[in-house]
Amino acid sequence: MPNVDSVKVAVRVRPFSQREKDAGSRCVISMNSNSTSIYDPRNPGHMKTFTFDLAYWSHSGFLKDENGTFISAGSNSYAGQREVFRDLGQGVLESAWQGYNATLLAYGQTGSGKSYSMIGYGANRGLVPSVCEELFKAIQSQEKNKQYQVGLAQTVIYSQDLSRLKPGGLKIREDQHQGFYVDGLKLVPCDNYAQIERLMDQGNKMRTTATTTMNASSSRSHMVVTIQFKQIFLDEAITKQSVINLVDLAGSERQKSSGSEKDRLKEGTRVNLSLTTLGNVISALAEAATGKKVLHIPYRDSVLTKLLQSALGGNSKTIMIAAVSPADICYEETLSTLRYAERTKKIRNKAVVNASPAEKLIRELKAENNKLLSRLAGLGSTGRSIADETRICYFRHPTEMTYFSILAQERRMMETFPYLLNINEDPQLSWVLKHFIQDGTCDVGQSTSNAIILRGLGILDKHATFTNADGKVTLTPRDMCKVVVNGVPITGKTKLQHLDRVILGSNSAYLYVGPPAERTEEDLSRYDYDFFQSELAAAEGFSVDKLGAAGSGEGRADPSVLAAFHDYIKLMPLVAEANQMSQELKKELKFELKVKNLALSDSRGHDLQKEITVKVTHATTNQVWVWSKAKFINRKFLMEELYQRFLEGENTDVNQDSDPFWDPVEVVHVGSAHVWLQALAYRMKLEEQAELLNSEGLEEAVVLINLSPCSSDGRLFGEDDMVVDPLELLGRRVDFQIHVAECLGVKWLRDAVGRGIQIGYTVYDLPRSLYTKPIWKNVNPKIEETVHFSALNASYEFLNYLQKNALIVDLWGLQEGCVEMDYSLDGLLLTSEGTVVVDNPKDTGNKVTELYRKLLQMEQETELLREVNRALREENVLLQDKLKKWDTGHHERHRLYRKLIYIPLNFSPQTKGIKMCSHRTSCDAEFAKALKIFYQNMNVVRQQFLQLKHSRPPEDNLQVLRLFTERQSQMISDFGKQLESTIYKLKSDVALIVKKKREYTAHSKS
Ligand SMILES: Nc1ncnc2c1ncn2[C@@H]1O[C@H](COP(=O)(O)OP(=O)(O)OP(=O)(O)O)[C@@H](O)[C@H]1O
Ligand SMILES: [Mg+2]
Repeated sequence: MPNVDSVKVAVRVRPFSQREKDAGSRCVISMNSNSTSIYDPRNPGHMKTFTFDLAYWSHSGFLKDENGTFISAGSNSYAGQREVFRDLGQGVLESAWQGYNATLLAYGQTGSGKSYSMIGYGANRGLVPSVCEELFKAIQSQEKNKQYQVGLAQTVIYSQDLSRLKPGGLKIREDQHQGFYVDGLKLVPCDNYAQIERLMDQGNKMRTTATTTMNASSSRSHMVVTIQFKQIFLDEAITKQSVINLVDLAGSERQKSSGSEKDRLKEGTRVNLSLTTLGNVISALAEAATGKKVLHIPYRDSVLTKLLQSALGGNSKTIMIAAVSPADICYEETLSTLRYAERTKKIRNKAVVNASPAEKLIRELKAENNKLLSRLAGLGSTGRSIADETRICYFRHPTEMTYFSILAQERRMMETFPYLLNINEDPQLSWVLKHFIQDGTCDVGQSTSNAIILRGLGILDKHATFTNADGKVTLTPRDMCKVVVNGVPITGKTKLQHLDRVILGSNSAYLYVGPPAERTEEDLSRYDYDFFQSELAAAEGFSVDKLGAAGSGEGRADPSVLAAFHDYIKLMPLVAEANQMSQELKKELKFELKVKNLALSDSRGHDLQKEITVKVTHATTNQVWVWSKAKFINRKFLMEELYQRFLEGENTDVNQDSDPFWDPVEVVHVGSAHVWLQALAYRMKLEEQAELLNSEGLEEAVVLINLSPCSSDGRLFGEDDMVVDPLELLGRRVDFQIHVAECLGVKWLRDAVGRGIQIGYTVYDLPRSLYTKPIWKNVNPKIEETVHFSALNASYEFLNYLQKNALIVDLWGLQEGCVEMDYSLDGLLLTSEGTVVVDNPKDTGNKVTELYRKLLQMEQETELLREVNRALREENVLLQDKLKKWDTGHHERHRLYRKLIYIPLNFSPQTKGIKMCSHRTSCDAEFAKALKIFYQNMNVVRQQFLQLKHSRPPEDNLQVLRLFTERQSQMISDFGKQLESTIYKLKSDVALIVKKKREYTAHSKS
């Protein structure tokens, strides 16, 4: 009878990583019994709770004991490796003893703790070693009338692309009884735990070598440890057999779809094909479990799901550990992991005890045993066999004796010589390989003739030479070979110090451990992969501070800035690798990391969200592309596939459409400028020379642009048309022209031939940007294009926009063969005169805006009435006083009295003759005029400044240099005078206004 069981799901949250701590991350996970809650860091009130079979809090409440094991610091809430084994590992063993198949899967984003739970680190051993150890312990304590067989295999799946499987390599086959299995996968028979430990250790070494040889990141590979456990009950003449699969899945990073453009190469999504398929299989099974009719479960779509078919919905007891990071910056990924786990827990399996009569099986087992023993004897001592054509790796192991003598020798060497210790992106694979630098000279490189053979991207046959003279070690790179020490590239002989960081080729990282005399007690674990990359970034002058992460007041940088910084660090080695592949495949492409919006702000001057992009430049054509992070990662994977084919000597000629290095020529965003629109709100003209700055804040060109208020028929307004208060324009027709006159010193055009530019900008609510006509091959292009805009019924919002916003003017770079920007006015609403209509709210908004406008108008009128009333009261009091003092005749008194009575009756909002009010208005107008003059003068100052900034000294002619200096000092002196007089004028104008105002107040009080 099958045992119908749901997949058991456990979630485990790890401690903060050093990087997360440095970033001041906050924990977004909380756990209570078996429920796990996650809150949205941008919206802390928003919390989601999930209930799983188990929830492990490994985030806090622990300490390290003397062996280095993490144990609870007193509270019961902390779950260490032991607790996880007790619940999950024991369950797996129980199933195995009963004759059920068992599967344990670890799922989660890169760095979330999958390998920690499955394999473990140092003293904190994970489930795989513990399950194996406990299995043998239990075997030893069993009765004698039973026989046992344990076999182990380690499989690594690098590529999910089935089409790449070729004859000769390992294949996935299907058997009526067994289901899918890896044909040719050999199980190594094991008698005790020490043997398994050694096999795992060796497996790790081989995996480390394989990741570099295959240029594939281990985070993108799945590792499956298969334990086959057979029990023969001699008395009952039956056998029970169980297959335990312990699976450390690849990191589950989702490709960010938001914001980034879609990649032309759709197949790039293969990166995660096996995980996507796993997701689809899980969803289909979850639906089936809830009673829905599901016709097809797509097991066959990937290698991984084929292998896991029995674990998911089949003959297996299955457990999944969802590993999650606690940090706020991982919120999206963690939420997606929890959702994935939620679906998984619905899957129902039908496990059966794999028992059968013994006789036949005993015969089979004996035969198999003999076969295995003879195979074991025949295994080579070098031990590595990678069926790399299939990119499924299975590791063959050395014999026990060879292994122990290798270990002993390694220990002796470590005590005698300095050595290089490998540092891998995956901490599981760090510190696995040691390369000893013996006395004398010692060459490193790919060639087998070297004393140290290193494989890896960008490492040449003879790459560099180490010299060890009495424990003093130097490193000398060969011609043009890339060697970096402590973040800085070296070209000549360099002395190494204990714990120096060495990078060879594009990304093979090593920690140099000096000779025993130089060694210290320092903890080496701080020199991890992140340390290497951050050091490289710092040496290149890149840091969080450079990104402008001036804290938000709490000593903590903006999370989005930190995320961009982390992206940068993460992409750095990938870019180095892409450059190396491009070079070797002769693609002539250069990749560079850029920070989009590093120095740019939006139309209100607020910083724009920073994003990491990759600039791609073709070395001969100078063509430029800008790739989003997601697109680059996608392409990098495809490049690796192509490169692997290249290494295998295959034909790498691909047509353009499927070449990851190729893209059609595109228009590139070169820079942007801000032109503040405030002048238009006062119906004033603005002539601006604005600097077009690139993402990094460097000047790419200067654009001359004029904003001119005008009448509906295009007559430009003069000074007299200026308004004192923008609200005077409320509800009226407002027309203005934007005239893009010319561009000066366009670097984009200067840097390469065959290029052009277009200027683009968007005004207020227009549905799309407007572009000028393309201009090609002219460094100082005259553009002279004017567009007339009309707001037919200026709204309050529009006037507010004019006052507070800038027009973002973009410079677009055209390249030969690209599709130009549409410079027509198609799709825009035009008036009968052909002007472009702005401020055209949709119907629904219209009424509200109208009401709002009326409300504002009424408020202003009320305010005006209040002012008039106040002025009248004051005047009234004044007159009454005077009345008392003046001893005039009755007639005169009577006349004045009438005035007192009649004025309040005659007033209306239009009565602008009232002194107080008119005085205020005239003050405002004078002030506005003074400001306008100031702006105009400042424009002159600005132009002088730009001229100064752009004049370059002549290179070598002394005579000309002298003239240049004289001219320059004259310009500086003019600049100074102009600036002073501008400020003086503003001061005196303001002083005059203030004086007038005071005089009037004094006069009206007297
Ligand atoms: N429960 C835990 N307690 C302490 N440290 C942990 C825990 N879980 C993970 N870590 C640490 O976090 C780091 C990343 O963990 P790990 O290597 O297991 O991630 P991973 O999910 O396997 O990543 P990848 O997908 O890249 O292989 C390691 O340095 C590991 O020691
Ligand atoms: Mg891992």
